[in-house]
Parts: sequence; C-alpha cells; structure tokens
Amino acid sequence: MSIDPPGEPSVNPSPSEQPHSMAPLQPPIEDAAPEEPGRRASETEAEQHHIVMPNDANPLGTVFGGRVMEWVDIVGAISAQRHCRAPVVLAALDDMQFLHPIMVGHIAVLKARVNWVGNTSIEVGVKVTSENPLTGELRQTSKAYLTYVARNEEGRAVRVPRLILETDEDRRRFADGAERRRERLRRAGREET
Ligand SMILES: CC(C)(COP(=O)(O)OP(=O)(O)OC[C@H]1O[C@@H](n2cnc3c(N)ncnc32)[C@H](O)[C@@H]1OP(=O)(O)O)[C@@H](O)C(=O)NCCC(=O)NCCS
Repeated sequence: MSIDPPGEPSVNPSPSEQPHSMAPLQPPIEDAAPEEPGRRASETEAEQHHIVMPNDANPLGTVFGGRVMEWVDIVGAISAQRHCRAPVVLAALDDMQFLHPIMVGHIAVLKARVNWVGNTSIEVGVKVTSENPLTGELRQTSKAYLTYVARNEEGRAVRVPRLILETDEDRRRFADGAERRRERLRRAGREET
C-alpha cells in the first residue's frame, strides 16, 4: 500500500479502478451511497456509555462477557452504518479478549471507528474501557475487530463508499485492517476478492 505524505488525504482504491478484461459474472453491485465520493474515517466514529447494572452482571458483580459483546456489536454497527448509510450484517468478529472485569456501578465506555473498507465489507475497531465514576480511573478492558457487510433492503450486496484517510494514523489503521482481513479470510477458508 502506498503511504501518502502526512496531511494529504487519500482514499482506498476503488474496485472500478481495477483493470478487467472480462464482463463480471455476478450482477453488478449497486452503490450504497452513490453521491458519496468517500467518507472520512473520522466521520465514522461512534461512542456509547453504559452504567453496568445488576442485570448486566454475573454473581461476582462484574459484567457478563455476552453483554459486552452485544454492546460492541451495536456500537460497531452504528459506526459501519455511519460509513455506508445502508443496512449492515455482521460477518465476523475476531477473537475478543476480556482483560479486566467491569464492576456493577462502573461505566463501560465503547469507542468505534471504521479502519478498513473493501467492496461491500467494512472493518470496525471497537475499544472498551471501564470508568470508575467515583475516581475517574480508566482501564482498557477489551478490543475487538468486527467485519460488517452492507446489504440493501432486499438483502443484495451494496458497494460501500471509499474511506478517506486523512492522517498517518488513519493510514496505519487501514494497512493493519488490510492485513487482518487477509488473515481472517485465510482462517475462514475464503479467497480474497
Ligand atoms: C456475511 C454474509 C453477508 C456473507 O455473504 P456472502 O454471500 O458469502 O458474501 P460474499 O462472498 O459476496 O462476500 C461479501 C463480503 O463479505 C466478506 N466476508 C464474507 N465472509 C467473511 C468472513 N467470514 N470474514 C470476513 N469477511 C467476510 C467478503 O470478503 C466480501 O467482502 P468485500 O465485498 O469487501 O470484498 C452472509 O454469510 C450472511 O448473511 N451471514 C449472516 C449474517 C448475520 O446474520 N449476522 C448476524 C450475526 S448472527
């Protein structure tokens, strides 16, 4: 992947820019947001806060992992839809670790942002932090990468806008996302498209 000089926005290459000599066998994919030349990575940010309540917790008084995964999926889907402005389905969730418990009464802070996009798929990174509301102490508890696929209302694949990469950090995230995608598809026994 080429790295642009700092400060110069760049976009991931469009599939329509790829050379091809044969007509596609599949019906063409429609654009999710045809008027969009691309979406800035910074526009895809989503954030949620939850106070952990007793019904979110196990008998030890700490949050259920499944509840955190539900919150991660919701904030991830919000971020993906901010990118493509179309319905999305979750195709893959990379292995997720729970580094520290979150206590009842503490705040779960979830931050999501699109890292990488392909033709119809979008990788979102979600970071989960616990906040002690009395002291303000913050602790990262989980990190997850989710792949969403954009669909139209009839369930057909739609092409997502390109991702405008404005900073070196955006470009680093995009390159790392591309590498994770290769590994993810390899694990799933799928070919990269
Ligand atoms: C995910 C799903 C849409 C993929 O359908 P498909 O017909 O296999 O899709 P395609 O082969 O056309 O692939 C579409 C995109 O998804 C990506 N993809 C598919 N499976 C993937 C996987 N396991 N991991 C990462 N990406 C995946 C493809 O690489 C492709 O990306 P691209 O368009 O950016 O190149 C389909 O399997 C599905 O609907 N699954 C159920 C989703 C669901 O209900 N989720 C809720 C949680 S249960």
